[in-house]
Amino acid sequence: MPADAYNRSVKDLRISVTDRCNFRCTYCMPLDQYEWISKKEILTFEEITRLATLFVGLGVEKIRLTGGEPLVRQNLDQLVAKVAAISGLKDLCLTTNGALLAEKIDSLKAAGLKRINISLDTLDPEKFRRMTKRGDLEKVLEGIFAAKDHGLHPIKLNAVIERGVNDDDILELVEFSREHGLAIRFIEYMDVGNSNNWTSEKLVSKAEILEKISSRYPLREIGRDQGSAPSVDYEFIDGRGDLGVIASVTEPFCSSCTRARLTADGKLVTCLFSQMGHDVKALLRNGTSDEDLVKFLSGVWRARRDRYSADRLEAMRSSHYDPKSHKKIEMISLGG
Ligand code: GTP
Ligand code: 5AD
Ligand code: SF4
Ligand code: SF4
Repeated sequence: MPADAYNRSVKDLRISVTDRCNFRCTYCMPLDQYEWISKKEILTFEEITRLATLFVGLGVEKIRLTGGEPLVRQNLDQLVAKVAAISGLKDLCLTTNGALLAEKIDSLKAAGLKRINISLDTLDPEKFRRMTKRGDLEKVLEGIFAAKDHGLHPIKLNAVIERGVNDDDILELVEFSREHGLAIRFIEYMDVGNSNNWTSEKLVSKAEILEKISSRYPLREIGRDQGSAPSVDYEFIDGRGDLGVIASVTEPFCSSCTRARLTADGKLVTCLFSQMGHDVKALLRNGTSDEDLVKFLSGVWRARRDRYSADRLEAMRSSHYDPKSHKKIEMISLGG
């Protein structure tokens, strides 16, 4: 099992299956047009499964399918079935905006999907439309309840909090998740990609989020799952569920980051904020053997020195941080 330059081994693989999305969330993908990956460049399900299997051989225990929006990729259930069958894989999950979930949940569940994370930033339909530019809250709620009816567990809701936009929705989201037995995670607004115009003023910190919640619903810290998950989890003292906060800006978790990312066009990316990826597709398509692919993947991982969020915090503290000075791969290509 290879460890990187800071002694972190690879345990999770986030696979983006498409860079397309049916939403245009203002914090992620606000523009109408991007330079889309052409169809022939997109990895096939067979190519993805081959790489996923090699990664599991290298120590990956958990695979997440993301996008863009993963459910806009045709027949995603077929990929779920292939990945779920990889021997040695402990956890398979999907992160989705939920819009197409109600119609796809039957086939996803039948293919072996057991748990799911769904974005939900507000329960106000008009605000939801403003934040996602194209989204219909009703459809997403249908998707959430369909996943629940199909027995997926846990169902985690992801709420990105942006100051002046949805910071006043936090308590309502907490109440919704408690009422329906869902686990909500509040996410600090991050400077992902190059077009969301992030500024530190838009950030609502973990401390503020927790203060708001615990003044109404007292909490007790549980900690990070496996010691390395992005989310720090809390349980309600009244026993009615738990929640998480993902504080990549104010409490970076780079020192325990075990996540590799694969873009829809087959680039291996070692950080959410990377400027470039490593072309694995070219190797997949020129007849490279499994053994040589493994050498390549391990080599990239061993050389890894990423700690973007930790560096950002240091720069913010010395007020030298300019998010625009560093051109990043777009979030839609990386799947978050
Ligand atoms: P679980 O396995 O269910 O805990 O999911 P997860 O939180 O790892 O994945 P999800 O796709 O739900 O992502 C939630 C948020 O965490 C998103 O905003 C991601 O961008 C962010 N996130 C996930 N991994 C990383 C990471 O390695 N670094 C940073 N900075 N953010 C991350
Ligand atoms: N900051 C924090 N989280 C983000 N996501 C998308 N853009 C951002 C951002 N700028 C989250 C979405 C989704 C997950 C994959 O990434 O909420 O749930
Ligand atoms: Fe699409 Fe998810 Fe990005 Fe929103 S956060 S634009 S739903 S990929
Ligand atoms: Fe990992 Fe990069 Fe996120 Fe740090 S910023 S936790 S190194 S993906």
